[in-house]
Parts: sequence; C-alpha cells; structure tokens
Amino acid sequence: MAPRRILLAVTGGIAAYKIPELVRVLRRADHRVRCALTAEAQRFVSPLVLQTLSGELVRQDLFDPGEENEIDHIGLADWAELVIVAPATANTLAKICHGLADDLVTAVILACRAPVLVAPAMNVNMWQNVATQANLAQLHERGVLSVGPEAGDLACGWEGLGRMSEPKDIAAAAELLLGPETLSGETVLVTAGGTAEPIDAVRSITNRSSGKMGFAVAEEAARRGAEVRLIAGVSALPTPAGVRRTDVQTAFEMREAVLAELPDASVVVKAAAVADFRPAEPETRKIKKESLTTHDRLTLSLVANPDILTEVCAQKGNRIVVGFAAESHDVVEAARRKIDRKGCDLLVANDISRADAGFNVDTNAVFFVSPSGEVEEIPLLSKRAVAAEILDRVEKLRQEQV
Ligand SMILES: Cc1cc2nc3c(=O)[nH]c(=O)nc-3n(C[C@H](O)[C@H](O)[C@H](O)COP(=O)(O)O)c2cc1C
Repeated sequence: MAPRRILLAVTGGIAAYKIPELVRVLRRADHRVRCALTAEAQRFVSPLVLQTLSGELVRQDLFDPGEENEIDHIGLADWAELVIVAPATANTLAKICHGLADDLVTAVILACRAPVLVAPAMNVNMWQNVATQANLAQLHERGVLSVGPEAGDLACGWEGLGRMSEPKDIAAAAELLLGPETLSGETVLVTAGGTAEPIDAVRSITNRSSGKMGFAVAEEAARRGAEVRLIAGVSALPTPAGVRRTDVQTAFEMREAVLAELPDASVVVKAAAVADFRPAEPETRKIKKESLTTHDRLTLSLVANPDILTEVCAQKGNRIVVGFAAESHDVVEAARRKIDRKGCDLLVANDISRADAGFNVDTNAVFFVSPSGEVEEIPLLSKRAVAAEILDRVEKLRQEQV
C-alpha cells in the first residue's frame, strides 16, 4: 500500500505507554505519522520518544506560537488522510462528541474532514457508564469508527472491558479504513441532492432528497484514491475530505456544471434528484397573496427539464456511467425501462415507498439493474456501504473493459 498521512492523536490514558509501538507499526508499513498530544497525554508518554520514532514534529499546544508557526492546526487537519485517537479517554470522547475544541487534539479533530478511528481505553466502569456509551453511539452514528476496547486485567486493578486494543490491531483497523487506492487514476464526477426550480423571487419547487447517497459515493470514491468532483444541488451536508465541490440550484445549472466537468470525468455517478419539470415562467418578483382568498386556485404551468443522464450517455465513450432511479412502485420494471432508454452501465433503483430507504435517511436498500436486464438486490445497508457496493461494480466494469 502507498504511504498515507496519519495523524495520531494521543490522549491522557495509561495505555499511552503503548503508543510508541503503534507509531513503529505504522511507520513499518511506510505511512507518515504525525503525533498530537493532549496536555494530559504528556504525563503518560514522552513527546520526544514519539518525535524520534515518527520522524516528524510532535505538536502539543494549540497556543504555542512556535508550534503554530511550524504546522498550524488547520494545516494539520487538512494534511491528515486518517485520524487515529489512541488511547481515546472518556474525556476526549465526550469532547469530540459535543464538538468541543479547547485543546489542540479536539480543535484539529473538529476541523478535520478525514475519517476518525478511536481506540478507547479506560476503567471498566468509566467504559460502561451510560454517558460514555451514549457519546460513543453518537460518534458511531456520525461515521466515527472504533476499535476495542478489549476485556482483561486493567491497569487500575479492575478486570473487564477497557483495555486498549493492541497496536497491531489498531494499525490493521487503520489499513482497512484507508483501504487500497483502487480508483487511483480515475476522475469521478458525482451529482447529489435535489434541485430547486424557482416559482417566483422567494418560492421554489424542490424535492426531499438530502444528498446523502451522492455524498457517500463522493466520500468513498475519494477514499479509494479517485479525483472527485461533486456537483451538489440543495444539500446542507459538509463536503467530504478530498472532494472538489460545486453548488448549484436548478436543473439547468446542474446540466451546465455536469457538461463542464464531463470532459475530465472517467466515471459519472448521477445520484442527484434533478427535477423533471420546472415552472414555465417563473416570476422575477414575489407573487402576492393579497388578491387570493381561501380555496382560490393559482395555476402553475410546468415545462420539462433537460435530461442530463441522456446527454451524458450520448457522449459516454469509455466512461462508466451510473444512473439512479427513485421509484414508489414497480421499482424493478421501471428501472429496466429507464436503463434501456438512457444507455448507462448500471442503474441503481431506490424504493422510496420504504421508510428506511431512499430520501433523507442514513440507510438504503437498492436494486442494481444492468443493461442486460439482470437485477441484483442489495439488502438494507448504510449509504456508505451502498456507495462501496456501487463503486465495487464500477471497478468491475472497468476491469471488464481492459
Ligand atoms: C494514573 C491515571 C490514569 C488514567 N487513565 C485513564 C484511562 O485509561 N482512560 C481514561 O479515560 N482516563 C484516564 N485517566 C483520567 C484522564 O487522564 C483525565 O480524564 C484527563 O482529563 C484526560 O484528559 P485528555 O482527554 O485531555 O487527555 C487517568 C488518570 C490518571 C491519574
């Protein structure tokens, strides 16, 4: 695996004495490792040891002008491809969970868009405390991953869950998270979110797409080493690490942005929910309600929007193009008809009638439909896992081309 940039955040638990070994394991795998320590961590492990083993400056103080001059904390957050918090104290887990940023470690984590892996280590009762469990559950929900703790004799004299995982196991979890760069060399263009078609100066027609599925594809493609261009419609989601984002509002703006990026793209994943229709003559000023009374009707005339997927497929060449379909009934049949009409390489069909899949939820259950009409049913998974399934199919299609 190519060397990756890992930020190792060390907090004040007794297991910090094992961190020099973790640095050695990561360095042996050829990764670059920069360490950041909390004030309490420095009581348990020597910064000098970590600096010597990592071969990189160790940062400890958010407010030290010298350190901030060497590598500023935002620079450190942007540099990292992965953050490992090990050992992760109950205190730091709580702080990360609540978005505190009152020391170097928590400030960097808050500013960092890379995946975060925590290796909790603490007394068994601290671990089992509902506060710690609730904090960790929230962190998991937000995509933070954890390794351990393990059961055994604890330094505090208690026995039970609380031992930090062994350095080799933390390193193995990190390798899994970093993953092989299987999309390196590809430029992946992803669209996500809904469009908003203006009715007048203040109102628009939009849909309930959150953009979560497309953002997950963009994030996973970046993790696999692709150059990723994300064109986002209406979505409040943060930009995933390593992704270049363009925001648009209407279907026309989406079309323009897609066609501008298309020449560079080798893979296109069109997860956006682009409005099929728009108001034919949007008012530039606000339509006044004054003359209308209850039950009066206002008729909106709609006109069809351009079909971006068809346009992309018309210039497909060697590109791999993945389309999406959101259907409320006859999902598979509608998807088969759509892939026939459009000519993309894979169609991902969502059943939006399910409460746990489709719009605005973190999970999805989809069907993959191929041009030959073959259908593969993917069970309910997190959108990140569905994104991984989609990109596995993209990689397979690329292999079949060569
Ligand atoms: C000897 C000793 C060992 C400690 N070990 C742990 C531990 O393993 N896990 C933990 O969560 N807290 C442990 N603590 C408590 C933390 O050091 C304390 O909560 C501290 O505020 C954590 O700061 P930090 O999260 O900013 O590093 C220990 C404290 C002492 C005095």
